[in-house]
Amino acid sequence: MSVTANAVLFAGGDSTPVITEVEYRAPRAGEVLVRMTAAGVCHSDLHVLNGDWPFDHRVALGHEGAGIVEAVGEGSDLAPGDQVVLSWYAPCGRCDACVAGQSWLCSASGAVTNGLPDGSTPITVADGEEARPYLGVGTFSEVTVVPRSAVVKIPAAVPPAVAALIGCSITTGIGAVLNTADVRAGQTAVVVGAGGVGQAIILGLKLAGASKIIAVDLSEDRLAIAQELGATDVFLGSDPDVVEQVRAAAGGSGVDFAFDAIGVPRVTSGMPDYLKPGGAVVLVGMPARDAEATITPWRLIVFGQRLLGCNYGSSRPQVDFVRIANLYLAGQLPLDLMVGERISQDRAVEAVQALTNPTGKRKIVEFH
Ligand SMILES: NC(=O)c1ccc[n+]([C@@H]2O[C@H](COP(=O)([O-])OP(=O)(O)OC[C@H]3O[C@@H](n4cnc5c(N)ncnc54)[C@H](O)[C@@H]3O)[C@@H](O)[C@H]2O)c1
Ligand SMILES: [Zn+2]
Ligand SMILES: [Zn+2]
Repeated sequence: MSVTANAVLFAGGDSTPVITEVEYRAPRAGEVLVRMTAAGVCHSDLHVLNGDWPFDHRVALGHEGAGIVEAVGEGSDLAPGDQVVLSWYAPCGRCDACVAGQSWLCSASGAVTNGLPDGSTPITVADGEEARPYLGVGTFSEVTVVPRSAVVKIPAAVPPAVAALIGCSITTGIGAVLNTADVRAGQTAVVVGAGGVGQAIILGLKLAGASKIIAVDLSEDRLAIAQELGATDVFLGSDPDVVEQVRAAAGGSGVDFAFDAIGVPRVTSGMPDYLKPGGAVVLVGMPARDAEATITPWRLIVFGQRLLGCNYGSSRPQVDFVRIANLYLAGQLPLDLMVGERISQDRAVEAVQALTNPTGKRKIVEFH
């Protein structure tokens, strides 16, 4: 049976997203119908609204979320009532990257078409036009229909708001530290951009035992949050001496790891300035698709420094979501500290637009 639900549909260009009643078809074999409980508001939704990442079709916005399984296609190992986190990069399970255990590099994910693995969409709009779930999940909708590989069952004890954030910012940030960078106890790091992703990087650095966790942001409010989460030093990015301040705080010769959690090319170009010899820049924040940044190859070569790209925290959701949920339940990862204001679905768009001048913690769309 198909399900009628409200989705937040964006038609592109200068249009304003509208809450629209749509129909999700019933899950087929290998698919799951999830009733959403909570969705986080991530800057990657703003990239769609502000035209950084344009699409030629209408999208149901939202990509960070969690919910409860309502129905499953034939032969599923999941059951109605299971709590699941949505993964916005459902892997195909068959390509070379998937077989090698690097599902974040999957070359055949339906997510890139904002659809299901066969390229179709589960959404029908009453006016007969197509809408596609953003990154194959569309988590600002009341329900969603996704492939089995786009959901990860996690313990029921994890609160919905935390579960939702595990779907993007938390896994991206913690994975950037543990998987992409492989930070070791006693190493030093700067996190440039203390939004949801940067905050999760800070929690990951604390978990890894980093001795210096330095945060840089333009917002005093975000720097205060960074401190609450475990940053040892905080500096305003607008200060002309910020690089010297960070290097001095790290002991003079620079940091082992510099995390870019913004996605502004000018900032990206300056990231190697923070590094000590042998250090690495980890690129997590994402710019517009065609944006370019500059580097000085000579310096990277002579100082043996590296640039590491980080998609989805180099994480395997089926393993890493569960691991993160268990660390949280064991009291080793204070993920509640990342949860901000709870809002209703009709305020989702306003919350995405507010990330143009961000303050506070991650806003959570709650569904009732
Ligand atoms: N690589 C991935 O897999 C992945 C996953 C999720 C999000 N992202 C990207 O990560 C980025 C951050 O996402 P978010 O949700 O945390 O965003 P956000 O808007 O909540 O946070 C960005 C932060 O950067 C700060 N900032 C902006 N310009 C700055 C500057 N010049 N100097 C210092 N600080 C500055 C802002 O004040 C803000 O606190 C986005 O580009 C998003 O698309 C990437
Ligand atoms: Zn996101
Ligand atoms: Zn694959």
